Amino acid sequence: MKPRTLTYIKAAVFIACLLPLARAAYIVISGMQVNPIEFITRSTGTWTLVMLLLSLSITPLRKLTGLNELIKFRRMLGLFAFFYVALHFTTYIWLDQAFDVAAVLKDIVKRPFITVGFAAFILLIPLAITSTDAMLRRLKRNWGKLHKLVYLIAPLSVLHYIWLVKKDLTQPLIYAGVLTVLLGLRIWWRWQPRKG
Ligand code: HEM
Repeated sequence: MKPRTLTYIKAAVFIACLLPLARAAYIVISGMQVNPIEFITRSTGTWTLVMLLLSLSITPLRKLTGLNELIKFRRMLGLFAFFYVALHFTTYIWLDQAFDVAAVLKDIVKRPFITVGFAAFILLIPLAITSTDAMLRRLKRNWGKLHKLVYLIAPLSVLHYIWLVKKDLTQPLIYAGVLTVLLGLRIWWRWQPRKG
């Protein structure tokens, strides 16, 4: 693929990743939602999970299609996951909890879905910080080891969703199924005997 084509596709993917935020902002500003705080919390949470799973789908897609350029999108998708979780957490701590640190800490300790969501958020921070080329060069082999944390972050995120849902588990279980396939493929490939 020509470098210029790749740049255009990257720009298009970048804009596409911002569309959920633009949509949410439009819905809130136009007063279409009776409970805007709940809506923003849910929307940013959903898009964190989607971005996380999309970034995890790059390696399997690359293997299955042979399109090696796909790797160029993994970092962007991972950083968008962090962007949406930062908005998600900010909405919760600011609009939902009004910066009541004691109440937030109590929530983190007492409500299991908040505990695991918070753990996933904290674990994403070092991945976002070390996502630059300079950090990749500096950390060398440890970079890969550190970024394996995503295999813990993603299940914690799905667990967060499963635990917060009170009645219909369909949606979180769909995400759980997608994650199982994405991680399952990796395990499967790892256990395949090497050719040659
Ligand atoms: C990687 C980390 C996280 C992911 C992937 C994530 C994902 C989600 C998802 C998918 C939802 C439900 C959306 C829906 O109902 O359609 C949600 C809701 C929620 N999340 Fe998170 N979340 C994360 C971290 C956090 C953190 C750090 C907090 C707060 C400390 C938090 C607090 C909440 C709350 C309060 C709700 C709404 C619960 C409700 O409506 O009853 N999440 N999150």
